[in-house]
Amino acid sequence: MAWAPERKRAEPNSRDPRASQHGRDGRGRGRGWSSTSSHVETRASGSREPPLCFKINNSMAGVVIGRGGSKIKDIQGMTNTKIKIIKGDSEAEVKIFGSRDMKAKAKAAIEALIKNKQGGYNSRSSVGNAASQPSVGRGLSRDNSVREAQPLIDWDQIKAEVVEWEKRKWADLPPIHKNFYVETKATSSMSQVQVDIWRKENFNVMCNDLKDGEKRPIPNPICKFEDAFGPYPELMKSIKKAGFQKPTPIQSQAWPIVLQGIDLIGIAQTGTGKTLSYLMPGFIHLNSQPVSRGKRNGPGMLVLTPTRELALQVGAECSKYSYKGLKSVCIYGGGNRKGQIQDIMKGVDIIIATPGRLNDLQMNNFVNLRSITYLVLDEADKMLDLGFEHQIMKILLDVRPDRQTIMTSATWPDTIRQLAHSYLKEPMLVYVGTLDLVAVDTVKQNIIITTEEEKRSLFQEFLQSLSPKDKVIVFVSRKLIADDLSSDLSIQGIPVQSLHGDREQSDRERALDDFKTGKVKILIATDLASRGLDVSDVTHVFNYNFPRNIEEYVHRVGRTGRAGKMGESVTLMTQDDWKVAGELIEILQRANQSIPEDLLSMAEQYKLHKQEKETGKKPRTPQEKFREFY
Ligand SMILES: Nc1ncnc2c1ncn2[C@@H]1O[C@H](COP(=O)(O)OP(=O)(O)OP(=O)(O)O)[C@@H](O)[C@H]1O
Ligand SMILES: [Mg+2]
Repeated sequence: MAWAPERKRAEPNSRDPRASQHGRDGRGRGRGWSSTSSHVETRASGSREPPLCFKINNSMAGVVIGRGGSKIKDIQGMTNTKIKIIKGDSEAEVKIFGSRDMKAKAKAAIEALIKNKQGGYNSRSSVGNAASQPSVGRGLSRDNSVREAQPLIDWDQIKAEVVEWEKRKWADLPPIHKNFYVETKATSSMSQVQVDIWRKENFNVMCNDLKDGEKRPIPNPICKFEDAFGPYPELMKSIKKAGFQKPTPIQSQAWPIVLQGIDLIGIAQTGTGKTLSYLMPGFIHLNSQPVSRGKRNGPGMLVLTPTRELALQVGAECSKYSYKGLKSVCIYGGGNRKGQIQDIMKGVDIIIATPGRLNDLQMNNFVNLRSITYLVLDEADKMLDLGFEHQIMKILLDVRPDRQTIMTSATWPDTIRQLAHSYLKEPMLVYVGTLDLVAVDTVKQNIIITTEEEKRSLFQEFLQSLSPKDKVIVFVSRKLIADDLSSDLSIQGIPVQSLHGDREQSDRERALDDFKTGKVKILIATDLASRGLDVSDVTHVFNYNFPRNIEEYVHRVGRTGRAGKMGESVTLMTQDDWKVAGELIEILQRANQSIPEDLLSMAEQYKLHKQEKETGKKPRTPQEKFREFY
């Protein structure tokens, strides 16, 4: 079905986006930990050792403290230390109380937080710089007393202690085997011209070696499943059973890299088989370690995902392609905690987890992460985003640093790229076509500029245009809207399910199951459902609200048009969404989609508005601009 309703004319909107932005900024400022003399003191460790003192930039104090003191509390909890942060004029003094080892561990955690925030590590400019200077002279004011009372710090000794502590922590680990790749004749005999032609025919799959210095050879892509998994008949059997004809472009290039034990960043459009690009080599990795599975005392593979539903889906994929009886378990919030602990105790090879619940089990010593040698961050950009970064850092404190790490996503924003490198070692980057934001080209994308008031009738119109075979995910911005829309439909006698964070986990799972099995054809969801979910027969995505960021648009649209099938999306936009109009146009252009005139106008208005703001002229309200335009 092709749905292209009459384009509605946008009306002036009463909400001024600038006002809401100010509101957000205003809320963030002047609250919490940002006042110049604040300090934090939570849990005491009872140690009488002198504190470990060092300075950090004031701007980093909030990063270390975290919202509501969450980060600093975690570091204290993890290390059984007490940490004080005293903010000065330009620098904050950090004092760590506790045992010698634990102080060093806490300092390392603080440094890691700062390093990740800065996207690069420069200990001189962020940590310790001020402390290593004489305690008199420039920049001293009310906090003189603190500086003068501070004991002399031997940075070399502290660094050596941290290194020593790390060494002790990771001593006695069994070696890891990482390279299992045997290039077949068919692959090795490809000439450069053949490789180039293959790349062109496969949506321009590109590969960069991100290792510093001398680059490694980029392995030739594999063209057939046998070229990667010929020596593993059980895997070949599962692939045949699934009915796949040939590897997808990302699989062709990722498998020879991952099978060699090289860290990978794999970026490819939605629905193009990224899950198997990391699972299949992971199975081989797990089953081929020098220490047999039974003697490993813990799981070997960890897959982290941003949502519970995605964790369950990856868990189901592990079972579907099960290899040599590898056992997997899903660890996610809202699920039966006791049952999950029991499953881990019985012995597992693979954990698929959302970070929060895994943190919980890690802190309470229910799970041993030291045995992990293969780590995956699925939807990596989302995982490294603010919401999860801290939890992941905690998890990684207990995962051996010489593990193999894989990150995958359909989007790879600039803001995340630098950050990602601290989690990987000399990775290769594989991407399909471009690293710019691209929606999958099997989806016809329709954009309608409208008003809040008109959305309901447009939605009704859309529903009426569906055929009985169609299946739709309707994305909304808030849980309340999801509830509202679904009760509206229920009243009309239309079977519907909803998926959002306020629903009980069992209801969430039932909702998705009803949708997958076709019991309902409409699923109304928040962005909980935007990442990774693979329901093969979704024909339409309807964006009732535009997502909060443009990456989510690409992921939402990608819930349809998967694995080569065709799909269609309809997106409602109002004047409040004008900020993203320009980026959306680029996405539409890249996928050769038609661009509505009023979207072009909206982008132009926003551009002018920004220019006026930058040159200091009083910006006009969107209403004023609209009047001018229509
Ligand atoms: N080689 C293949 N040929 C055909 N279909 C495949 C192949 N590999 C995987 N698939 C199927 O393609 C579908 C999408 O795969 P998957 O969920 O891994 O996509 P993805 O790239 O992770 O998408 P997203 O970005 O939305 O997470 C799945 O149903 C999967 O079984
Ligand atoms: Mg995926």
